[in-house]
Amino acid sequence: MKPHRIAIFASGSGSNAEEIMAYFQYHPSIEVKLLLSNNAQAQALQRAAKFKVKTFSFTKAQFRDSYEVLTWLKDERITHIVLAGFMWLVPDYLVHNYPGKIINIHPALLPKFGGKGMYGKFVHEAVKAAAELETGITIHEVNEHYDEGNIVFQATCGIEPTDSIETIGQKVQKLEHIHYPKVIEQWILKR
Ligand code: GAR
Repeated sequence: MKPHRIAIFASGSGSNAEEIMAYFQYHPSIEVKLLLSNNAQAQALQRAAKFKVKTFSFTKAQFRDSYEVLTWLKDERITHIVLAGFMWLVPDYLVHNYPGKIINIHPALLPKFGGKGMYGKFVHEAVKAAAELETGITIHEVNEHYDEGNIVFQATCGIEPTDSIETIGQKVQKLEHIHYPKVIEQWILKR
């Protein structure tokens, strides 16, 4: 068994989850053991199957009002949790069981454009509406509040007046795929 074992939480497409699973597939000391989703239809679950990563989906009640998800994590002896497009707030019991061991990626430059309801294309819409000249990604540790944990890494990209919400989203996604797996690796190994 490798010393560092990741569970990815993903709600939707899972393009970041796929990059992470590919990056760690043959890693000497880090492995992705689980992919968990609040959405039984999430494409992320199919992506996990390609990498033979075990999957579970769960309801809000299972996540909030029981320790079932925690049991799955403990059964696989998960050491780190990676949120990759996961849209629910992480409950206190998970934060307390994995203090400083949960990381998230946000598709903008926090502390701007964060908080409840700020996810996916809603973030890019808000950035465009504010006529920002740049946007980017923020990778941060997770605490009990949306988008407020310790910032680990940020990268930026410019916004042209001709950029649409879609092209802003594409620029940000490119940054996510380039950086997230490597930042996770350094975050795990350098502590
Ligand atoms: C990513 O852009 C990620 O930053 C964002 O959801 C997208 C998921 O894409 N996360 C948030 O907005 C969290 N607040 P993916 O499913 O293709 O990885």
